[in-house]
Amino acid sequence: MQKYWIETYGCQMNKAESDAIIRQLKHAGWKEASGPEDADIAVINTCSVRETAEERIEGRLGFYGFLKSKRNSHLKLALMGCMAERLKEEIIERFPQVDVVVGTFNKKKFVELLTSNKEDLTLLHDFLLTEQDEYSFEKIHHSDSAYKAFVPIMHGCNNFCSYCIVPYVRGREISRNPSDIFKEIETLLNDGVKEITLLGQNVNSYRYTEGSKTLDFASLLNKICEKFPELPWLRFLTSHPKDLSQDIVDVMAENRAICRHIHLPVQHGSDDILKRMNRRYTSSHYMSLIYMLRKAMPDISITTDILIGFPGETEDDVEMTLSLMREAGFSDSYMYYYNPRKGTKAYEWEDTIPIEEKKHRLAKVIELQKELSYNWRKKKIGKRLGVLVESVSKKDARELLARTEQDEMLVFAGDKSKIGDFTTVEILSLEGNTFKAREV
Ligand code: SAM
Ligand code: SF4
Ligand code: F3S
Repeated sequence: MQKYWIETYGCQMNKAESDAIIRQLKHAGWKEASGPEDADIAVINTCSVRETAEERIEGRLGFYGFLKSKRNSHLKLALMGCMAERLKEEIIERFPQVDVVVGTFNKKKFVELLTSNKEDLTLLHDFLLTEQDEYSFEKIHHSDSAYKAFVPIMHGCNNFCSYCIVPYVRGREISRNPSDIFKEIETLLNDGVKEITLLGQNVNSYRYTEGSKTLDFASLLNKICEKFPELPWLRFLTSHPKDLSQDIVDVMAENRAICRHIHLPVQHGSDDILKRMNRRYTSSHYMSLIYMLRKAMPDISITTDILIGFPGETEDDVEMTLSLMREAGFSDSYMYYYNPRKGTKAYEWEDTIPIEEKKHRLAKVIELQKELSYNWRKKKIGKRLGVLVESVSKKDARELLARTEQDEMLVFAGDKSKIGDFTTVEILSLEGNTFKAREV
């Protein structure tokens, strides 16, 4: 039996696409290897969003070079995803240990090759599967028995934020046929899935046209809730502020299956920087969205992405970001300092902020977010909340890890037979960003 090993880096879209491949390989009779030492093929599904992401992958390529020369000479290595798409031929030149480069658009062809030529992987040598086919969605993006699943509904990005590589490696936006989305959700619910997250680089720009009919994101959410009243929790990622409408907020408020959480990346609090980032909204428009969301759903948690140290950023710009964060009251943030990405618009501008200063500014942002996360969570101590149990806690095997509807993590003592169940807990205390709780 042939064995595969897949390593996935980057965002949830990569995770969903890796899961779709794993599912197909398993169906074709492949088995998961216990590690790369023991595999016939290893696939690294890569990310290009920041230089640090690529450096990490280069480190893995070094490891695989050693593995192939010393320990597992029959191993074939495939580099897949955004970094493969960005560098193409350069990968084979720089990293001869890579046998096949699979970009974003030819994952399907790659799986067909693997499943049809299982016994003769030499066929993979030097294959470059990067020419731009139209992106196609897989049927099911879920590989194991987990009760949580991602369902991609749109792919690509038309926004071209001036710092971002994604539109270059993922291509233009396409929306998935709604009947395929419904079929996937139906299969997942039959498999016992309890929480579905709709995915897209810009999920709320979903728009599917067939004949004279157009389905937008608000209508899609409504349809999913109508068709699947048994679906307990529905989430979606990532929303762009310019495409968040009152309609979407109304659908969220009206359907209790849609979790009271939204991830709405603001990136920055200065209008000058937002303009040069090409985000197409102002800080006051962003704040008007926050008020709209909180008015419709007072208990909603709002998380964000912050990108600090953009070319030309002043101390005042940083202060504006800190003050927007305070006003918005984010319950969590992903915070990064700016990395120039070759090929993007901002790459042509001078990277004016020295790395030490970027780190210093980022530290201020992180410090404030710690305070905001604490302020958001402390109100919940003593309360009872419904949670979905995810796994055994990594820190203590006697504890279970669970998540609230508002996307907060907690641990409580319990038996692993509860994994995948909804239960009610009382929040006892807070350690970092994680609640300690007890089941009631
Ligand atoms: N589509 C989402 C949006 O518009 O908010 C974001 C997707 S992007 C993959 C995830 C995050 O990576 C961005 O929100 C941004 O904060 C960060 N990011 C993108 N390009 C970056 C860069 N050049 N340097 C540092 N962080 C970056
Ligand atoms: Fe990148 Fe902007 Fe597209 Fe998000 S919306 S993926 S940040 S270009
Ligand atoms: Fe990275 Fe590609 Fe996702 S660049 S963040 S894996 S879309």
